[in-house]
Amino acid sequence: MRSLMLLLWIALLVLAPGAGRADVIALDDDPHGAAEPDPRAEDGRRLLARHGCTGCHSLDGSAGPGPTFADRWGGLATVQVGGAGPTRPVPYDRAYLARAVAAPDAEIADGWSAGLMPAADLDPETLDAMAAALAEAATGAPEPPPTSWTALVAGVLVFVLGHFLLSAGPVRRRLAGPLGEGRFMLLYSVVAGLGLYLMIVGLDAAPYVELWPRLPWTAHAPLAVMPLAVALWVFGFSTPNPTAAGRASVAEQAEPVRGVVAITRHPALWGFALWGLSHLPPNGDLASVVFFGGFVALALGGMWHIDRRRAARLGEAWRGFAEQTSVVPFVAVARGRTRLRFGVGDLARLVIAAVVFVGLLHTHHLLFGVAALP
Ligand code: HEC
Repeated sequence: MRSLMLLLWIALLVLAPGAGRADVIALDDDPHGAAEPDPRAEDGRRLLARHGCTGCHSLDGSAGPGPTFADRWGGLATVQVGGAGPTRPVPYDRAYLARAVAAPDAEIADGWSAGLMPAADLDPETLDAMAAALAEAATGAPEPPPTSWTALVAGVLVFVLGHFLLSAGPVRRRLAGPLGEGRFMLLYSVVAGLGLYLMIVGLDAAPYVELWPRLPWTAHAPLAVMPLAVALWVFGFSTPNPTAAGRASVAEQAEPVRGVVAITRHPALWGFALWGLSHLPPNGDLASVVFFGGFVALALGGMWHIDRRRAARLGEAWRGFAEQTSVVPFVAVARGRTRLRFGVGDLARLVIAAVVFVGLLHTHHLLFGVAALP
């Protein structure tokens, strides 16, 4: 049942962002029209909104804090190099877009001032999609898709509250009794999966509200922390542990503290907490903070909640186990309550973790639409 849950999660992670983006190919309802609609334009409009661009630049010609994108593509932009001296015309094209984003103050659009536009570090695919949206805005663009908080807020509520409610003793007893343990876990997975799906779809649909700017160095926070988080997932999910779903009985075994559990009794949850925390610096918009913050809250709250439930259910066996372990990593080891013991199997786990990390690093832009490497 646990592997089913994991599979469901992985399927959702892989499918949901793709479902939101890839298959929204514009229908060609005018086959004789001059310009083929570019399927990337829709993506581009979404990315312009997500990166905050359309907060300053309109796609429909209306005035704003920055020059409009409407009817500019393919023409000439008049710029002042370095913000001083005479102006000169430059082609308004993909290269100009890339320069404007990477170094906004190197060429200032005529009539505007330097220091207003924040620089951004965008990967080539993002720029391609944005270029397609700008090109479309020059031929009469449809409005950017309407944004909404509904799915994200509903997703966080279902995901976080679903976890706490369904696993709370009284609810669990009332449902798991008549349903049976297997079907109860399935229900649990479906509720969690639904919440996760809504969160992922909602992250895409939410308006962009910047809380802190996207600075290039922030991309290093997840790069530095994720190897540890992935290792905690791989070690955590593959080590018998009474804190894991459906594995309470491990506490009653002769040697309940094995491998990574000596470091912390919640290795996988620490993996989720570190994953969420490390993704906050580069994602300072409200929707991302709700998304990643939701996981952090669930992971940290989950440690406390699981400990309480296990203590109530297992009594003496839990006390023995809890005495030899700690929630905060390395506390039990530092206090001499347990010893670190690792074996050959852990070498294999390390290798798997390294492969998973490198795999995630290189498929991040495909899975989540944002490049992991700066
Ligand atoms: C805080 C407001 C703001 C944000 C956010 C912003 N810009 Fe700008 N942008 C400006 C201003 C103001 C100018 C004109 C001054 C200049 O050229 O730097 C400008 C200029 C530009 C130009 C040149 C426009 C022209 O007519 O010559 C492009 C292209 C551009 N921005 C793209 C983007 C993209 C893409 C994003 C998102 C990654 C973005 N901007 C985010 C304010 C903003």
